[in-house]
Amino acid sequence: LRCMLGRRSVPCLPRVPVLGSLLHLRSSLPPHLLLTQLSHRYGPLFGLYSGPHFTLVVSEIGLVREVLLQRGREFAGRPKMVTTDVLTQGGKDIAFADYSPLWKSHRRLVHNSFTLFGEGSGKLHTIVQEAADDLCEELQSCRGQSSDLSPVLMRAVTNVICRLVFSSSYQRNDPELLTVMDYNDGIVQTIARGGLIDIFPWLRIFPNKDLKKLKQCVSVRDQLLHRKLLEHKMTLKPGEPRDLLDALLIGQMKGSGGEDDITEDHVLMTAAEAFGAGVETTSTTLLWTIAFLLHHPQVQERVHSELDECVGQARAPSLSDRSHLPLLDAVLCEVMRIRPVSPVLIPHVAMQDTSLGGHSVPKGTRVLVNMWAIHHDPKHWDEPEQFSPERFLDSSGRRVTPSSFLPFGAGPRVCVGESLARIELFLFASRLLQRFHFSVPPRASLPELQGRFGVVLQPQSYSVTVTPRH
Ligand code: HEM
Repeated sequence: LRCMLGRRSVPCLPRVPVLGSLLHLRSSLPPHLLLTQLSHRYGPLFGLYSGPHFTLVVSEIGLVREVLLQRGREFAGRPKMVTTDVLTQGGKDIAFADYSPLWKSHRRLVHNSFTLFGEGSGKLHTIVQEAADDLCEELQSCRGQSSDLSPVLMRAVTNVICRLVFSSSYQRNDPELLTVMDYNDGIVQTIARGGLIDIFPWLRIFPNKDLKKLKQCVSVRDQLLHRKLLEHKMTLKPGEPRDLLDALLIGQMKGSGGEDDITEDHVLMTAAEAFGAGVETTSTTLLWTIAFLLHHPQVQERVHSELDECVGQARAPSLSDRSHLPLLDAVLCEVMRIRPVSPVLIPHVAMQDTSLGGHSVPKGTRVLVNMWAIHHDPKHWDEPEQFSPERFLDSSGRRVTPSSFLPFGAGPRVCVGESLARIELFLFASRLLQRFHFSVPPRASLPELQGRFGVVLQPQSYSVTVTPRH
């Protein structure tokens, strides 16, 4: 089947009234693999109907660059969905808000605030190093017992975001930290099951357990953040932002009072999104890193040697070591290539009539960027299924970045937390690998590397033995 786009047509999945192409999308495969399989049959640009919504699926780097970069602004819209509307008070966040002058100034403010505490300021550096130290103490106390690292990594990353956003730093069992982790988990689980209600919003009229749970979690989240917001407002010193909430509040107060100004609700939703977008992604990437190192012990050994040579044991690795640790950096890149935690990004929407690959694209068309397919395209990667950090090193061992590598997206909708995430990944991974050796527990099998698709692409849970190195 083909769909007409202007005077030319693109291959299209068959469809029936109401359901669209959904019957052809039923599969045991997770979405990124199903869409990749379909792209082998239908080509790098094909159409489908997600219920009533016409959607283009893009699986070739030239077309992806056109969507994200060359025509980035034209494709910078987001679809309206029931679950994300509940999550973000109808789009008062960054990730799910449509492109508009208000969104642009909001995003700029968030970006500037991250920069204020990120690279160069030392604040994030200290926060992550301290969290990494706590994490190491906790692992040290396990004394070589094997365990699933997922909860401890999640807690470490949550703690970083709590300190960055509202300056609270928590002990391991602090009830407030447990509340944050609990509602976050509830949100992640229910959003991951969102599915049909986002395609057919009228399903909302029927009782829906997941939607009810989502609303409960969001309400607990908003009460907590609201309390933090009030505390911050009462103690705010305009020239001295202590954390992200302060920086956002100061930015909000500077507004001219016009309709393109962000409101206090936008501040609240941004703080919430730092958790929603920043915790699961970063901790899962760390989990993938350890899973791949268990499969490739010789790579782990080489990373250990690189760390011993460049940093030693007497001090913690710092960001200034990054350029001297090309192998570790390459390992992190290879992990994000082979298992991108966001394999189909967040859906984009054409905000006006535009074009793609020479085809006319009408306003309102949804676009799914299949980054998984890009990161596994044999035209651009030798043996794409192989884990090989060397792809990111040149012949003299210096770090290089191939152009088909976009784990954070690109253009106007590129991940706003990219530099923050990279700082966290580097500081956590370098500290963990400086101090510990990770191995498969006796009689256990290697971690499953296929991954399961929820809000992010995660490894199946696995156990690991953590042994202090020195
Ligand atoms: C968007 C990846 C960590 C905040 C995105 C997108 C990707 C991504 C692929 C979608 C881009 C698109 O739709 O075109 C990642 C990865 C991370 C990570 C791989 C860690 C390993 C973070 C962190 C934060 C963050 C730590 C903030 C604390 C956001 C936000 C958006 C976003 C707000 C929405 C941007 C927009 O729609 O304009 N991220 N992210 N992310 N990310 Fe991240």
